[in-house]
Amino acid sequence: MTVREILRMGDPRLLRQAPPLPAQDFDSDALHLLITDMLDTMRAAEGAGLAAPQIGVDLQLVIFGGHSANPRYPDRPLVPYTVLLNPQITPLDSAQEQDWEGCLSVPGLRAMVPRWSRIRYTGFDQYGDPIDRLAEGFHARVVQHECDHLNGVLYPMRVTDFSRFGFSDVLLAS
Ligand code: NI
Repeated sequence: MTVREILRMGDPRLLRQAPPLPAQDFDSDALHLLITDMLDTMRAAEGAGLAAPQIGVDLQLVIFGGHSANPRYPDRPLVPYTVLLNPQITPLDSAQEQDWEGCLSVPGLRAMVPRWSRIRYTGFDQYGDPIDRLAEGFHARVVQHECDHLNGVLYPMRVTDFSRFGFSDVLLAS
């Protein structure tokens, strides 16, 4: 159980294309330990999700969601706690929507970010069992945000309206 340092934007390790976990490495002690550290780190930072590259681990692994409302996103619906490896995302149609996003690697800032409204996502849990879900709205947004980290993409790279990009405390006050 270790809270790990979260890399911040500007660190080149956040820009890598992460490799998938090889089939023989599922359900290993090393993987379970890594996931425990990621969960501790996500909870300590009150994040909605965390991707392995954010703690410097170059691997297609994200965790997101939780059992109680997130203090950083108090008015958003609950997303089930999920460990997702080697994910694939497919938009269900061409609909997109804009909503506020932040990122633990971009502390203090928020922006309106366009995302697919409805997606199918697939992958595997830590035991190698398949995950295949439909998601929409906030749930779909969190999955897209976290999986972007596996492709070296941070949300500011997706901002289209820079008049709605700023410091969280300033945005809240105005
Ligand atoms: Ni992020």
